[in-house]
Amino acid sequence: MNCVERLVQIFGSQAELARRLSVDRAVVSNWIKVGYIPARWAMEVEHLTAGELSAVEVLNEAAARKPLKLKSRPEGEGSFGMPLQGNDIMNQYAPHKRIFSFHPPQRTLMGPGPTEIHPRVLTTMSQPAIGYLDPVFVEMMEELKTLLRYAYQTKNALTFPISGPGSVGMEYCFVNMVAPGDKVIVCRNGVFGGRMIENVERCGGVPIVVEESWGDAIDPQKVEDALKKNPDARVVAFVHAETSTGCQSDAKTLTQIAHKHDAMVIVDAVTSLGGTPVLVDEWGIDAIYSASQKCLSCTPGLSPVSFSERVVDRVKARKDKIKSWFMDMNLLLGYWGASTRTYHHTAPTNSLFALHEALLLIREEGIENCWARHHRHHLALKAGLEAMGLKYLVKEQYQLPQMNAVMCPEGVDEAAVRRTLLDEFGLEIGAGLGPLAGKIWRFGLMGYSCRADNVMLCLSALGSVMSDMGVAVHVGDAEAAAHAAYASQHVRAAQAKKKAVSKAA
Ligand SMILES: Cc1ncc(COP(=O)(O)O)c(C=O)c1O
Repeated sequence: MNCVERLVQIFGSQAELARRLSVDRAVVSNWIKVGYIPARWAMEVEHLTAGELSAVEVLNEAAARKPLKLKSRPEGEGSFGMPLQGNDIMNQYAPHKRIFSFHPPQRTLMGPGPTEIHPRVLTTMSQPAIGYLDPVFVEMMEELKTLLRYAYQTKNALTFPISGPGSVGMEYCFVNMVAPGDKVIVCRNGVFGGRMIENVERCGGVPIVVEESWGDAIDPQKVEDALKKNPDARVVAFVHAETSTGCQSDAKTLTQIAHKHDAMVIVDAVTSLGGTPVLVDEWGIDAIYSASQKCLSCTPGLSPVSFSERVVDRVKARKDKIKSWFMDMNLLLGYWGASTRTYHHTAPTNSLFALHEALLLIREEGIENCWARHHRHHLALKAGLEAMGLKYLVKEQYQLPQMNAVMCPEGVDEAAVRRTLLDEFGLEIGAGLGPLAGKIWRFGLMGYSCRADNVMLCLSALGSVMSDMGVAVHVGDAEAAAHAAYASQHVRAAQAKKKAVSKAA
């Protein structure tokens, strides 16, 4: 019996085999006709039959039936060299377990990031690799910088994506802007402000910490007081959108205060960029970093940054050697600068294609529409969560649309709810971090994940899981509340449009 006959026997019929392989029946009947399975299906077959029919058998049969016409192939050898002998080809370092190609499940991602990725971005990412100094790639880099300037609302020449996650963007800002002995006012109202303190210390700087309780926005008065007490502070650092709590601080006011005292700002916009307004030029932000996997909805591993001329001048004027080769702004300028293109490191080309496409989607939607979409779906989600009796951690005026942190009700097993949502509904939501671990859930509505279908799935799944666990929620109330929130927003939008038309007439 040949391999394809054995497969049909295993699955009972040609039709069932075709269904399992997601191919047309005609494909399977063609294999029957020719008497072998093409070599490219070998791993799939092994996977599908859990090893009952090994890839090696499929490969050997395909090689015997349809040998490649290679002139250099010695007599008697198959297209893959000597006929393969199952485990004999394994060497001593081969894993004991049979390893298959990885196929991640389809999930709905409504946690603190990463988010779901738009199909256009995924497709772009899987395009053929090209060199990072290829003229075509270099042209794409220039467009990417322009699109990033649009997302950041800036004309800053030095705006580009760093190869590395948001944490690398954070480190890049501190390493370049904080010299040993520099005083830095660092605001902490959650996890990521704490990481900024770490960065200052590792750069040899002196952090002056402005503490705020987790869930509160940074109080501008406290920052002003700290600057008055420390007139020699050179930098003020704060997180615009604190992902660990879902709280937004007033970046514009904090920047104004810092400038009044002749200090520059470093702003963490990892969760804010693309989800809420980030107006780099209008607010006068000096240095800012973000990450690709939040409201930009791209693959993780890139950190868009932007620096004002003042920052570039300060870094160029530093007398000491910057303590990181990879992060030294002066060196990286040679690759990302407008006029030069010299090797610095091997750029992650396909991820950069993806970021280009993700930013293009934002450009096509319009950044203001993108912010408005985040706000619209946040209002619907919030109406639903509150209809289930859930309370937000953060006061209304500081709530982030893209990160909704709610208190887990008393007596409910917080982790069990998340686990059931993932197992039964394929829905990922976030847990609390640090002192909030076990106490809150975090619902992300970021980028491509920020859609009405996700809002509705989330509310009905959560309602059903909590109800099954004995929590007194009326399944269906949340969806009704979300629906009403959408409807009232549509009515308001229609009224505003009508008013604008009659004003123009
Ligand atoms: C506000 C904030 N800053 C920094 C980071 C670090 O980003 P990354 O995980 O991409 O390194 C995160 C990640 O969630 C974040 O939310």
